[in-house]
Amino acid sequence: MRNRYFVIGFIAVLLFGCGGGKEKQEEEKSGLSSRDEIRLKQYQVQGAKVYATYCANCHQQDGKGLASLYPPLAGSDYLLENLPRAACIIKNGQSKEIVVNGVTYNQMMPGNPITNLEVAEVLTFIANAWGNEGGLIGVKDVDKWIDECAEEY
Ligand code: HEC
Repeated sequence: MRNRYFVIGFIAVLLFGCGGGKEKQEEEKSGLSSRDEIRLKQYQVQGAKVYATYCANCHQQDGKGLASLYPPLAGSDYLLENLPRAACIIKNGQSKEIVVNGVTYNQMMPGNPITNLEVAEVLTFIANAWGNEGGLIGVKDVDKWIDECAEEY
């Protein structure tokens, strides 16, 4: 008698245990992707604020830049072809001749007193604004990129 209860109990644990585990796995899977979506939205919202505070003066609110002084970020081939380089420029500034969408710029951009998280946020904002489609740029990537910034950026 005792043995039978034990067996039934064992089977029940097996069934519920496995079933529950599967559900949990699925929940974690979908939870992950929706977490990323939420993070993308958060970064965009925070990044828009960073942009308005630190970047819009020069690159303009619409990201189109200003004449031959400030290069565009909207549709910028230079920005989108190398996001690690963009992160370094945002953090450390840049002064050398560059060509953006076929136009040569040779001005000075100062570095910005912002955290790596804010760099990730503003880069995510830019990469997904004005027709750009760059997706989420995470802070872990930005940490790595900024650690490895080349001298000449
Ligand atoms: C004082 C004006 C100024 C501010 C403020 C400024 N930039 Fe720039 N930015 C420039 C100039 C000038 C260049 C071109 C530098 C050169 O000629 O080497 C540039 C270049 C860039 C580039 C590479 C070229 C391109 O168009 O893709 C990126 C990316 C960029 N800036 C992003 C930002 C972001 C993001 C911010 C805010 C966190 C910012 N900049 C703030 C003036 C500015």
